[in-house]
This record gives sequence, C-alpha cells and structure tokens, in this order.
Amino acid sequence: MCGIVGYLGKKQAAGALLEGLYRLEYRGYDSAGVAVMDENVIRIVRRKGRVKELECARHLVGNIGIGHTRWATHGSPSEKNAHPHRFGRVVLVHNGIIENAHALKEECLTRGEEFSSETDSEVIAHLIERYLTGDPLLAIKKACERLQGSYALAVLIEGKHAIYLARKKSPLLVGKGEALLVASDLPALGNISHAYALEDGQFALLKGDEIAFYDGELRPVSPKEIAFDREEGEKETLCFEHFMQKEMAEIPAVLARSEVDFATDSRFSDFYRVLCQTEYIQIVACGTAFHAGLCAKEAIERLARISCEVTVASEYRYRDPIVKENTLCIAVSQSGETADTIAAALLSKEKGAHLAALTNVAYSSLTRAADSVLCTNAGREVAVAATKSFNAQLFVLYSVARALAFSRGREAPPMQCFSALAYRALEVAEEVRSWTPFFAAAKSAYFIGRGADYVVALEGSLKLKEISYLPSEGYAAGELKHGTLALLEEGTPVVAIATNEDLAEKTMNAVHEARSRGAQIFLVTTLPGLAAREEHSVLLPPIDEVYSPLISVIPLQKLAYYTALARGNDPDKPRNLAKSVTVE
Ligand code: G6P
Repeated sequence: MCGIVGYLGKKQAAGALLEGLYRLEYRGYDSAGVAVMDENVIRIVRRKGRVKELECARHLVGNIGIGHTRWATHGSPSEKNAHPHRFGRVVLVHNGIIENAHALKEECLTRGEEFSSETDSEVIAHLIERYLTGDPLLAIKKACERLQGSYALAVLIEGKHAIYLARKKSPLLVGKGEALLVASDLPALGNISHAYALEDGQFALLKGDEIAFYDGELRPVSPKEIAFDREEGEKETLCFEHFMQKEMAEIPAVLARSEVDFATDSRFSDFYRVLCQTEYIQIVACGTAFHAGLCAKEAIERLARISCEVTVASEYRYRDPIVKENTLCIAVSQSGETADTIAAALLSKEKGAHLAALTNVAYSSLTRAADSVLCTNAGREVAVAATKSFNAQLFVLYSVARALAFSRGREAPPMQCFSALAYRALEVAEEVRSWTPFFAAAKSAYFIGRGADYVVALEGSLKLKEISYLPSEGYAAGELKHGTLALLEEGTPVVAIATNEDLAEKTMNAVHEARSRGAQIFLVTTLPGLAAREEHSVLLPPIDEVYSPLISVIPLQKLAYYTALARGNDPDKPRNLAKSVTVE
C-alpha cells in the first residue's frame, strides 16, 4: 500500500531510489516519484503509471533523496497526486492514511494556503512547514501530533542535508551499508549490513553517515536491529517469465522447508504448552490468508474437536467479539503488515486472548505485537496474488491442528511427504492450460466444493478474479440450487473440487445440476473414478482429505495464471490491487 524509499550517501541518489522503488512496486503501482536534493535545491520528478515511467529521473543530480510508489487511496492515480509532495521548504513521501485530512486541509485553506493535489498526504507538508521555526524534527513531531490515522513519512527540508523519518502503524525500515537507506520493506533496502525498524511513534534522523532514533518525546533511543538473510530478495525470476510462475514452482521447496522447520522447531515446542491450555481458537486474516484460516478450521475442529471461529479481520475489529478464557487467537498474514489483521489481532489480545502471529515476515509489525510467532519460511513473495505463502500457511496450520489433537490425546492422520505430492500436483496441473480458452472467453466462472473443497473453491475463485478480472464466485456445492444456478448459461465454466470420498458424489450431484443447465464442467479431484468420468479433469495424487487443500489449490492457482495470460493481463501486478494492504 504505497512504498517509500530514501537514500543518503556518496553516490547519486536517483539510481538507488529507482532500484528501491522497483522492489517496492508490489505495494502499489499507479504512480511514482522521486525528490533529489543538490546544493540545497530539491528537484522532484513524478509520473503516472509504473516505476519504469520514472526512468527519466535517473539523471537527477544529488546524493540525498526520497521516493514513492503509490496505491491511490485519496485522489485518482495521476501525476499531480503522485508523491513526493512539496509545500514551501518541505518535501515528503507518505505511506498510510490521514483520517482527519479533510479538517486539516480546511484549516490550511483558511490560512490562505493552496493545495496542488487531492491527496490526504499533502496536508502533512503544510503542517510541517507551518511549525518549521527551528529544529525540523520538532516541527515534524508537532505536525504528527495533529494527525489521526497511519503514516510512514520520509521528509526532506530544503537547506538541510538530512532525511527525517516518522512512523505510526505503517512500516518503516532504515538500512546502513555504504550509504544510509530507507524503505517500507527489507528487500528494497538493497545492499546493507545492518537494518533497523522504527517502532510506532518513533522518529529518526539520517545525517552524514549516522542514524539517530528518537521516541515520541524526541528523547534518543536505541534502534531495534533486524536480523535478515542477505541472500533473500536477490533471487529474481531467473528462468521464469513472472514471479507468480516462479512462486508456484517453489511450492514443493517451501513445503520441504516447512517439513524440516516444524519437525525440529523448538519455538513450535514452546508453543505446544500454549496449545495444551487452549480451549477456543479464533483466526483473523484477510484475503488468501483468510482462506488458509478456513481450511485450518476444518482440520482443527475435525482432528482436535476444539471450536474454531474464523473471521475476516476487517469485520472482527469492528464487532464486539467475545473472547473467552483460554482463547488462542491466530492472526494469519503473509506480510505481517495488513492493517486490518493487525488491528483485529490486537483487539483479541486486549480482550485476553493469547496472540500467535503466523507470518512470512519475521520482522513485521504483527510479529512484534504477538505473544508467539510461527514463521512460514516461504521466502519472499512478490506477485500480488498469494500462492506459495498459502501452501506454507496451510502446512503450519495443519501442524497446529495435529498438535492440538495430540494435546487432547487424539490421533491425527500422518503428514505425508507433501513436498513430493506438490511436485506431482504441479506437473498434472499443467492440464489446466487446455482449459483456459473456455475461461478467457467466459463472462463469469463458478467454483464449487464441500467441506475443505469448498474453501479451496473460494480461493480458486479469488485467484481468478484477482488476476484475470473475470467475475467469479466460490460456492458451497449444496447451495448452488438456492440461487447461483440461475446465473448459469450455455458454456459457463464451473470448476468442481472433489477430494473427499464421502462427499464426492454429493458434489457430483451439483455438477449434474449445473451441466443440465448448460455449464461446462472442469474437475479437480484425487479420485481416479471421478476423473475418468469427466472430459476435463485434473487427477491429483492421493492425499489424506484433511490435508488435501495443500495440493488441490495448485491447479486453481495455475488456472488463474494461464487465464490472466490468455486475457493479456500482467499476472504479477493486477490492476487496482496491492500486495501489502497497510491501510484499513
Ligand atoms: C492483499 C493481497 C492478497 C493477500 C491479502 C492479505 O489483498 O493482494 O494476496 O492475501 O492482501 O495479505 P497478508 O499479507 O495479510 O496475507
């Protein structure tokens, strides 16, 4: 949800800023801009569209600068709404949402100040300029005290060879190597030896080759250093055309790593003590992570017989949820930065739940808020549509379900070698390439299943919507006849997922009903008998039905990918979406 970068060093800043922005583009890509200071003059270049449109800024001279890639919240995607924003001596980039921007803007307008954009961010520059009588950090602090909402800010002040930072709720990191670097996410910091995270309410000053951190009262504080894998983030798409393709291909390796991590991980053993005391489970998450939570519910309730409630985080946070004693809240988030998930998780913790973060980013805001941390170790995921992180989340959640079962003295089906099964699933799923002409030409598509297969239907539908822009619905197979059947026309594609032997024939009843209304049927199954009956089917390797979403989702991920390609879309960067949604 917008990405910000900064550079202060001996080289030209523009190149480093652009590199950082390319790496942050997954956070938003409707416009981009940079500001570079030379001899106390700040020059700004902004462009509508992707970071590549900003290549013309590479020639800017100066060794200090800030940059931004935008996902529009206030104001259309346009050059005038692109960051950096300038007012007087102040130039800034902002990630987050200023909720009282309207009132603050009215206040500035009555002072005769003019605005050049429709954004909520520009008002911050006005406030800083107003308070800029001495120490710039003090002016920024005073401005921040007026702001409601969330922000990660990087500020340049004409005449001051420094970068000023402030953070509330939106992530902001600083790296130190040959230069000082600022970014919303670790991979964008580039070549650094140390990385530090600003905590909520903190400020920082980058000057010369020094970084100083301050608390909310501008008292110096020690920075929080982040451990990171220097190799991580350097692996680009290599032989793959798209990140999504690469990330699907990595699923077997991710599962193999998970098998090692969760067989030997002592943190998980510590967590076992928490599980022994757990009587209720609540899962909060958004998007694909929410679907992982729904799959977990199926497994937890079935294996451990513990009640598990799964709620979309943006709903949970605005309800008055009941949190009983001995509740474990699992917040699932690939990025660990999704604003709604963090807010829901904190609410649950405040009401007495033990908060466990299940995330792919060990240094994320969610991790810092949690009582226990479960890491997915899926590696960096760049494509906006989540794939390998979903499989990794499922693995950990199934491990939790099993551990809960064992803690109650119950049995659970053994985990097979899921990495090998996923490898085979990737091979057989190539069959869906032949399905894409039906989807590319369709007006809408439907996914149906029962139990865990229904959850996979939801995820398959979400993937297809996200990147192919084809209207699509995931439906409980038994519910089809209560409304959705009315939407089926001659040739409408319906994908049925059937991996549960006991429920498969029931699902096939819905398939027959759909086919009789002209639907074109596509089947994803682990049951050879069913596959043989259908013209278009993917036969997956046998897997215990409790864990089947780990592999049954793979053909659907591929279906979305190939359909997006067939419809001429960029699967990695779907329109209007962003990977990390740090605003509510
Ligand atoms: C965005 C992404 C989705 C993702 C969701 C939750 O909508 O486009 O792919 O599932 O956010 O993200 P999280 O990082 O919390 O898992």
